[in-house]
Amino acid sequence: MGRTVHEKTGRHRHFQSLWFGYWGGAVLELGFGLGMSAQFIQEHSPAHHVIIEMNRAIAETARRFAYGQSGRVAIFEGTWQDIVPLLASESFHGILFDTYGMSEADVFRTFTPFLKQAYRLLAPGGTLTYFSDEAAWFSDEHLAALREAGFSRINGELVNVAPPTDCLYWRQPTILAPTIEK
Ligand SMILES: C[S@@+](CC[C@H](N)C(=O)[O-])C[C@H]1O[C@@H](n2cnc3c(N)ncnc32)[C@H](O)[C@@H]1O
Repeated sequence: MGRTVHEKTGRHRHFQSLWFGYWGGAVLELGFGLGMSAQFIQEHSPAHHVIIEMNRAIAETARRFAYGQSGRVAIFEGTWQDIVPLLASESFHGILFDTYGMSEADVFRTFTPFLKQAYRLLAPGGTLTYFSDEAAWFSDEHLAALREAGFSRINGELVNVAPPTDCLYWRQPTILAPTIEK
C-alpha cells in the first residue's frame, strides 16, 4: 500500500502530544519510517530513546540515525509484537506508536492490540500518543479499548493537517492527536 506523510507542520503538532506532562526519562518509539518523529524526539533530548523497527533496510537507516545523535538511541530490529514483551514494565515515560498494519483490513487501528502493553510499559504519569485514524474525536469503540487497557486519563488535540493530494491514507483536514496519560 502506498503511503505518503502528512504535511510536516501538522505532523509535528501531532508528535507534540508525546511531550504533554513529560518530565524526562526514556521514550519508546514504534516504527521509524522516514525518521521524522525520531528527529523530533531527539530535539527534546530524552534520557534514552528506544526505536523498534521491523523492516531491515529501514532499521539500517535508523541505526545510522542513532549513530549521528549525541543522546542514547537504541534500535531493536523486529516486530513490536516480538520485542515489546521483552521490555521491562514501567520503564518508559513517553511512547509514540506509529506502525501500520500488514493488510488492507488491518491498516488502521494497529494501536489497539498494543494498548495493554503500552499501559504496562509506561511509568505512572507517562504519556502515550499514536497515529490515530480519527478526524474528529475518540469514537466509543476507541475509548472502550483505551479503558479496557487501563487508561482513564484520555485527552487529545485536533490538529490541522494538509495531506498532499496523492496521500492514500488521509483526506481529512484534521486528525486527532491523542494524549493518553497513565
Ligand atoms: C508510518 S511509518 C512511521 C513514520 C514515522 N513516525 C515518521 O515520522 O517517519 C511506519 C513504520 O512502522 C514499521 N512497522 C510496521 N509494522 C511494524 C511492526 N509490527 N513492528 C515494528 N515496526 C513496524 C514500518 O516498517 C514503518 O517503518
